[in-house]
Amino acid sequence: MRDEMGMRIIPLEGGCGALIEGVDLTREISDAEFRFVKQAWDDNLVLVFRGQNISEDDQLRFAQRFGPLGDRKAPPDPLRDRAEGVKQVNSKILLVSNIKENGKPIGAFGDGEMWFHIDSGYSSKPYLYTFIYSLTLPSTGGNTLFSNMYKAAAAVPPALREKLKGRRALHIHEYKRAERVDLSQDISGSPHFWHPVFIRHPSTGRESLFVDRLMTQAIEGLEAAESEDILAQLYEIGERKEFIYEHIWQLGDLVMWDNLATIHARTYFSPDEPRLLRRCTVEGSGVSG
Ligand SMILES: [Fe+2]
Repeated sequence: MRDEMGMRIIPLEGGCGALIEGVDLTREISDAEFRFVKQAWDDNLVLVFRGQNISEDDQLRFAQRFGPLGDRKAPPDPLRDRAEGVKQVNSKILLVSNIKENGKPIGAFGDGEMWFHIDSGYSSKPYLYTFIYSLTLPSTGGNTLFSNMYKAAAAVPPALREKLKGRRALHIHEYKRAERVDLSQDISGSPHFWHPVFIRHPSTGRESLFVDRLMTQAIEGLEAAESEDILAQLYEIGERKEFIYEHIWQLGDLVMWDNLATIHARTYFSPDEPRLLRRCTVEGSGVSG
């Protein structure tokens, strides 16, 4: 059923996510439409708008209704070639792409699978929200998996929850896509930050498990072996099939997700096929337990 604005929410199959119909993102949305979308977002964590034909300006205008736009975080110089493309000129936009022009990548995060992660989870103020618009897609693969970390938090067994009470975890980003960080090496040159294992979402007040396979590398105050053992358990809980929605991209999709209540991953796609997505974010203000 559609509401009086002509908008409709269709829940998606899986642990989170909903399709929103009846919105044209090339125009400014009304306050009533904004409230409708925001409520749907808090309830479903991932929203999908199909068949949009939006410019970069349209995308940024829509995103900034939800808060101040995030700046693309510049990697340190030694890691720059893993993350910076030659066509990334707007500081609010990141091009997620494997396309190269004259041998140089136009964007970031190239080919293939990418493990579950939180966008900028390694920084002191991880992004609150992420918005991605699809421009060029491979014939198959490159799907985005989203996992509901409210459900993951609730699934942590009581004894493990007690062990983790008040503890923080170390998040490190080395601009890799499917490889953990080697903690025996010096990490001082890689962006990193300690965040609580369980966080309280600033908008919904709900508890979320703030751990992901790609970037979360250690639990505070534990020996390495125990830390590794517990992280493996937390990765497994966070990646349970029943918590996941798998988004199979279509051209013209705008997908927006709550970056503090979900983790996301990318499935494999052929490096011989181009893929280009345009990302912007809303700035976060730090997370707390
Ligand atoms: Fe991401």
